[in-house]
Amino acid sequence: MTPSGEELRARLREILGADAVLTAAADCAPYLTDHRQLYHGAALAVLRPRTVAQVSQVLACCNAARVGVVPHGGNTSYCGGATPDESGRQLVLSLQRLNRIRSLDAANYSLVAEAGCILGQLHAAAGQAERCLPLTLGSQGSCQIGGNLSTNAGGTSVLRYGMARDLVLGLEVVLPDGRVLDALSALRKDNTGYDVKSLFLGAEGTLGVITAATLKLFPMARDVATAFTAVTDVRAAVTLLARLREATSDRVSSFELIPRIAVELTTRHIPQVTDPLDRAHDWYVLCEVSSSHPADGMEELLGNALSAALGDDLVRDAAVARNERERAALWKLRESIPEAQRKDGASLKHDIAVPVAALPDFLARASAWVSANAPQGRLVAYGHLGDGNLHFNLNAAPGVDAQRFLADAPRVGRAIHDLVCEFGGSFSAEHGIGRLKVGELEHYANAVELQLMRAVKTAFDPHGIMNPGKVLRA
Ligand code: MLT
Ligand code: ZN
Repeated sequence: MTPSGEELRARLREILGADAVLTAAADCAPYLTDHRQLYHGAALAVLRPRTVAQVSQVLACCNAARVGVVPHGGNTSYCGGATPDESGRQLVLSLQRLNRIRSLDAANYSLVAEAGCILGQLHAAAGQAERCLPLTLGSQGSCQIGGNLSTNAGGTSVLRYGMARDLVLGLEVVLPDGRVLDALSALRKDNTGYDVKSLFLGAEGTLGVITAATLKLFPMARDVATAFTAVTDVRAAVTLLARLREATSDRVSSFELIPRIAVELTTRHIPQVTDPLDRAHDWYVLCEVSSSHPADGMEELLGNALSAALGDDLVRDAAVARNERERAALWKLRESIPEAQRKDGASLKHDIAVPVAALPDFLARASAWVSANAPQGRLVAYGHLGDGNLHFNLNAAPGVDAQRFLADAPRVGRAIHDLVCEFGGSFSAEHGIGRLKVGELEHYANAVELQLMRAVKTAFDPHGIMNPGKVLRA
């Protein structure tokens, strides 16, 4: 017999202790709305386990009761991936108390961290051991590693180090029936059958709950050069990237495309952000090259490459950071773009990827579509040019009604995503599917792939309790 909400809460209090089962509206509220305020859910309770054994008991209990569980990290999802539905029948499972760094092995260049560790906390721990965890996100002060891995997060150093998935050596996962998959290996080589753990990376908590991970570390960057560069156009930026890769023995760690409007929005809405250059330009790139050798001449390499590009009319101007303070200011501009967009009003986000060399043509076609068909939006297209990943976002133009603007999201999204498809791209490059893009996945996914995804879901979670309604619809 299905237990009532009160019976279930009583059982969960026995497992976790009363203080770890939140039910008061004010306590639960922060867990029920997503970062972009797109979804406002309800829940039977918010659970805050302290141990893997407790997570295991909670899932076994919910599986038996057929109650949906929504894993919740730092709540920085752009797609509503960590927000429960409106039924009030689901439970939110916060991982924030599982926040220990279990070990760090400098010689093996690895660390084992629990899911609730804040990404910035892991950067600091790696740094203390003279190592670097390269996953770099604007939200690193609050996002949690469990969420980063569950969404296979990207960020600004993918070009050099790969996505979150590429940084994982091992995982510990609690399965929906409560079994614990201990695959916390620190091995670099392990070809023993199917790579089961990899299925949880990017699954957005729909197959099980990641409770810990063994992550790869790298040598610390000790010689870093950063430049905010005005480029002639986006095609010039693509050429500049190829040249920089060659000139630096492939040590470009970031190559971010920034349009003029993003400089205007950040300087207007974010205190202390200023335009690094004297004159306005249409397009910029924030590029960074780095070496673990303390005196590898990175600034000279970057300077020479930029001078040559200036001579060849690829580059119009550049500001090279002379110290850490200036470097931080350049990154502040880049990382504040999403916040500046938010402060400016309603926005439609498209997290797309196409092959890097196709970006200029994609951008030209997609921008023309927006001008002709969505003039109520102002294009704010920026992002990780080095990965072919653009945040092709639109902000409501001044005077446009926010609700009407947002209501047009499906039509605009479909047109942009159709074009992405024509270019052989992805409509979900680094933010995941969550709840927002379930329909797009059904529409664009290859039929065989979708069948396999459904088969995996059924095999891992036969009662459909894990993050219901996210990634795949029942
Ligand atoms: C970024 O690169 O700043 C983000 O992934 C955010 C966004 O889509 O706005
Ligand atoms: Zn991004």
